[in-house]
Amino acid sequence: MKNLLVTGGAGFIGSNFVHYMLERYNYKLVVFDKLTYAGRMENLDRVASNPNFRFVQGDICELEAVRAVVREHQIDTIVNFAAETHVDRSILGPFEFTETNIRGTQVLLEVAREQQLERFHHISTDEVYGAIPAPNRSKEGDPLEPRSPYSASKAGAEHLVYAYFVTYGLPVTTTRGSNNIGPFHYPEKAVPLFTTNALDNQPLPMYGDGMQQRDYQYVEDHCEGIDVVLHKGQLGEIYNVGTGVETHNIDMARKILDLLGKPHSLITYVADRAGHDRRYALDVSKLQALGWHSRHSFDQALEKTVRWFVDNEAWWRPIKSGEYMDYYRRQYVEREGR
Ligand code: NAD
Ligand code: DAU
Repeated sequence: MKNLLVTGGAGFIGSNFVHYMLERYNYKLVVFDKLTYAGRMENLDRVASNPNFRFVQGDICELEAVRAVVREHQIDTIVNFAAETHVDRSILGPFEFTETNIRGTQVLLEVAREQQLERFHHISTDEVYGAIPAPNRSKEGDPLEPRSPYSASKAGAEHLVYAYFVTYGLPVTTTRGSNNIGPFHYPEKAVPLFTTNALDNQPLPMYGDGMQQRDYQYVEDHCEGIDVVLHKGQLGEIYNVGTGVETHNIDMARKILDLLGKPHSLITYVADRAGHDRRYALDVSKLQALGWHSRHSFDQALEKTVRWFVDNEAWWRPIKSGEYMDYYRRQYVEREGR
């Protein structure tokens, strides 16, 4: 592994992964990103002058563009982060999710096959398992029961990845991550939305009764998990990545408010997300057996995350305008009939 194509590398996890890898390895990293609303060049400012870093704007659904970037940069490994990622947006407009997440992944797989790449690593999600009642935990061999247009598109992509392994012998690996939190998290997702709203003394919109559970992990721990699978994972295998500890959304929101010294009365209960998965919970022993462990507890991860948003208002403040506000109105104001 020398030259990696990091698709979606201008987004939240992808940009953290680029930082993580450039700090530890002497690999060339080429970010290939369409720069949708979620992709932001400023996420990569810190590495812009690193000689091992390149940026190419492009769409993973365009075969010729993917082929060209792979050839030009002598790519041997693709790490596929590129996706439409927000469940609520997938409910409002699902087609884009099928297009990017399924067809885009297949375009990348085709180029990887044609150019005989060393590795195709696919970034997937714990949402493919569907809602998991306590006390169960999802293991990698469990059936997939995705329940939103987003998670269904991620499951579809995974099936294609595995099909290319079996049918064409493409060297693939897949990771299924739980909810990430940390720097550069786009403020449509719950933790950055709640944090930035709280900083502005605005309501924290809590879906349903707030008793849904998520495994919130620090983004750097997820990046380390991907690194371990890239270097030690078995071809054709899938690895869960998470802390293995779940938190209720209401507790997450209260902790954010406590960290910021804001009143709990900012929490406002709103209509639930359609088909809202009540709980995700991962068994992460397969990845732990490769020597990986999560380095941050939920409290440590949340504290670091909230501090980053306090210190980086210049990053998130400009995002909360234009397209974001249109989306915010559709999702929260018009839906509530307010
Ligand atoms: P994000 O929305 O912050 O970033 C997605 C990136 O993909 C953006 O930079 C966007 O411009 C780019 N992109 C979108 N469509 C593209 C296309 N057609 N061609 C090229 N680039 C395109 O997402 P994220 O939260 O960083 O998630 C990254 C990956 O990790 C996704 O595959 C997601 O499903 C997966 N994942 C996310 C989480 C999480 O908690 N955020 C957890 C598990 C798995
Ligand atoms: O589990 C991994 C997944 O985590 C990733 O695959 C997705 O890309 C990522 O977006 C995330 O999905 P979630 O739907 O779990 O994340 P989100 O931050 O949108 O919501 C977290 C929880 O908070 C969820 O139970 C819904 C709830 N929520 C969310 C928002 C945006 C609210 O109560 N209010 C909100 O306004």
